[in-house]
Amino acid sequence: MSATAADPAKRPVEDLSPDEAAAELARLATAIEAANLAYHGKDAPEISDAAYDALKLRNIAIETRFPDLKRPDSPSEKVGASPAEGFAQVRHTVRMLSLGNAFADQDVTEFDTRIRRYLGLPPEAHLAYTAEPKIDGLSLSLRYDDGRLVSAATRGDGEVGENVTANARTITDIPTRLEGAPDVLEVRGEVYMRHADFAALNARAAEKGEKGFANPRNAAAGSLRQLDPQVTRSRPLCFFAYAWGEVSDPLAETQEAALARLAALGFTVNPETSLCDGPAAMLARYREIEAKRATLGYDIDGVVYKVNDLGLQRRLGFRSTTPRWAIAHKFPAELAWTRLEAIDIQVGRTGALSPVARLQPVTVGGVVVSNATLHNEDYIAGRDSTGAPIREGRDIRVGDWVQVYRAGDVIPKIRDVDIARRPETAEPYRFPDHCPECGSAAIREAGDSVRRCTGGLICPAQAVEKLKHFVSRAAFDIDGLGAKQIELFFADDALPIREPADIFTLEARDAANLAKLKNRDGFGETSVKKLFQAIEDKREIPLRRLIFALGIRHVGETGSALLAAHYGTWDAFAEAMDAARDLSGPAWEDLTAIDGVGTVLATSVVTTMTQEAERASIDRLISQITVLPDEGRTVGDSPVAGKTIVFTGTLEKMTRAEAKARAEALGAKVAGSVSAKTDLLVAGPGAGSKATKAAELGIATLDEDGWLALIGET
Ligand code: IVH
Repeated sequence: MSATAADPAKRPVEDLSPDEAAAELARLATAIEAANLAYHGKDAPEISDAAYDALKLRNIAIETRFPDLKRPDSPSEKVGASPAEGFAQVRHTVRMLSLGNAFADQDVTEFDTRIRRYLGLPPEAHLAYTAEPKIDGLSLSLRYDDGRLVSAATRGDGEVGENVTANARTITDIPTRLEGAPDVLEVRGEVYMRHADFAALNARAAEKGEKGFANPRNAAAGSLRQLDPQVTRSRPLCFFAYAWGEVSDPLAETQEAALARLAALGFTVNPETSLCDGPAAMLARYREIEAKRATLGYDIDGVVYKVNDLGLQRRLGFRSTTPRWAIAHKFPAELAWTRLEAIDIQVGRTGALSPVARLQPVTVGGVVVSNATLHNEDYIAGRDSTGAPIREGRDIRVGDWVQVYRAGDVIPKIRDVDIARRPETAEPYRFPDHCPECGSAAIREAGDSVRRCTGGLICPAQAVEKLKHFVSRAAFDIDGLGAKQIELFFADDALPIREPADIFTLEARDAANLAKLKNRDGFGETSVKKLFQAIEDKREIPLRRLIFALGIRHVGETGSALLAAHYGTWDAFAEAMDAARDLSGPAWEDLTAIDGVGTVLATSVVTTMTQEAERASIDRLISQITVLPDEGRTVGDSPVAGKTIVFTGTLEKMTRAEAKARAEALGAKVAGSVSAKTDLLVAGPGAGSKATKAAELGIATLDEDGWLALIGET
C-alpha cells in the first residue's frame, strides 16, 4: 500500500465503508466550517486554499457515492460565511456564487463532457471556453444605477454581503460613473493587492512595530473590510472585473465580448484571458498561466474556465452553490517541513478529542502555519481505521520533523514525518483515554475513529463549547455575548453562565448581586444595559433556531429546519422525541420518514432529548424563553414551487437533466412516475402510458412550450 493511500483522510472514496464514510463526512463538515469561519469571518485562514478545496471535493465525492449519508449541515450547500457585524448588510439581487474545482487534467475533460451531456451536444459540436486567471483576493459586487455607483458589497454568505460602498469608492480601478452602461448593471470581480504594494504595506507596519498581514489576500480583505474608508484609501487595492449580477440589458452574447464591454466601460479586465476551443487548449493555457504565475505581480491560485456562449451559460444554470458553466482549475498544494513541538488535545462540543499539532511556525503557500490537525489517534500512530498502515506505518512523535500541507483551505494537515531526523529521546505518543478537561473516561465506540469524553454536561470543555455554539450567529446570535464573553462568564463564580438557561437569568441574578456586573473589567453601565437588552431581544426565538442552538450532534442548520418544519411547535417536537424512544412505535417511524432525516440524526436527537440531565437543562431553558412556531419552509413565488412534476416523452428544447434541474431550482419536486400526488405532467412527443394515466387521474398536463411559458421562459 502506498504511503498516503491508507491515510483515513486520503483513502480512496471507493474503499470507504458506509460507517467510515459517515465519520469522514462528519470530520469534513467540522473542518470546512472551521475553515470558513477563519477565512471569511476573520480574514485569517488557518489552512491553505488547496487544503480547503481538497476537503470540499472529498466531501462531494463521498456524498455522491453515499447520497443517503449527506449531512443536514452538509458543507456542499453553503458558500462562505455570514456577514460580519459592523457593516450594513446588502442583499444580493442575484446570488454571488462560488466555483466548483478541478485539480487534475481529467477533471477538466470531465467538465467538458458533463456540459455536453447536459446540453445534449455531440462530441464533435464546437464548444468554446474562456480561460482566465483565478485571482486570489475577495469578490465584490458593484451596483450601478443609471451609470452611477450606488453600492458595493462583499460576497458574505452569497445571499447577503457587507456594504463596503464608501471603501470601494477609494479604489482607483473602480469607476464611480459609467458612460453608455445599461440602466442597471452589477459588475462583479476581485479586489486584490499587488505583491509590491503588499510588501510596502507590511514594511510600513513593521516600522511602526505593528503586525503585518500574512499574505496579500488577507491584506486586501482586511483593507476593504475597514469601518473607516480613510484606512482603505491608504491601502493600495486593485480590482479585476470578470462577471456580473443583475443587468437591465444583456452586455453581450459571449463571455469574451462581455469582458470587452466591461473594459470599454472603464473596468480593468485580466489581460491573460483567452478563448480556448476545448479541453486540450484549456489545459495548454493552464500550463502557460502556471508558468507565468510568479511574474504576474499578484497572487492567482488557478485558472477559471467559463463556457463562452452566454445563451448556453443560461441554459446550464446553477447547482445549489456553483454554476454548471464554469470551473476553477486550481494549482497544486504547497508543502513545507517543520518541527512538531507539542500535541494538544482539544475537546469539542460533542466531546470529540481532537489532537492538534503545535508547530514551529512555517510559511506554507503564503500563510504562516503554527497549528495543524492530526485527525485522531490512529492517524498519529500511522494506521487507518481498519488498522492498515499509513505513511508505511511511520508514527508521529513530539520532536519530529513533519511535512505540512495546505491542499484545500481549512486547517493544515501533516502529510509525512522524517524518521531520519527523529530525536533519540522522542517517545511514541500516547493518546489519552481520559478527557484532559474533566477527567471522565474517553471512549471510542466501535466504528468511530474518534475518542469522545463521556462527561457530557459535567465536562467544562463540552459545556463551554456548547454555550459558544448556543450564542453563535446561526443560533441565538446575542450581541455582546460571543465566545470570549462566554469563557469569562463560564469561569465566573459570582455570576456564572454554565448552561443556556443561565443567560436568561443573568439580569435577575445580577440585580440580586447588587448590580455588580457594571463594575467588572470590560463592562460599564452602558455595556451591561446593552447586553441585558440583547438577551431580552432573543427571549423569543423561532423553533428552528432553538433546535439548532441546542448543539445536538448531527443536527445542523438544515436538520433543525427540517425538524422544525415537521413538528411546528416546541411542545409537539418535545413530545414526539419522548415518544420516539420506542423504536418500533409510530413516533420513531414518523421522525425517520422526514425527507432528509436519517437514523443517525434521529438517534442523536432522541438520545439527547431523553437523557435526563440534558433534558432537565433544556427544560430550564424553555421555561425562560418563548419559542415561536415554525412557519414552514419559505418557498419562492414560482408557480411550481412545492409542486410534484413528472416529465415524459421527448423534450426538444432541453435535455431531461436540464428540465429537472430547472424545475428543482424553482422549488418543484421531480418524480419519475405519475401518481395521485403528481401535480403536473409535462409531456413531449411520444408520451405514452404516463400521459394516459395522468389523464385518468385528471392531472394537469402541459406540452414543452406550455411548461416553458409557465416558468417564464419563452
Ligand atoms: S467567476 C458564478 N472568475 O473565485 C461564478 N471567479 O472560488 C462567479 N475568482 O467567488 C465567479 N478569479 O471570488 C470568477 N476569473 C474569475 C475569478 C473568480 C477569482 C474568485 C471569486 C469566486 C471564487 C470561487
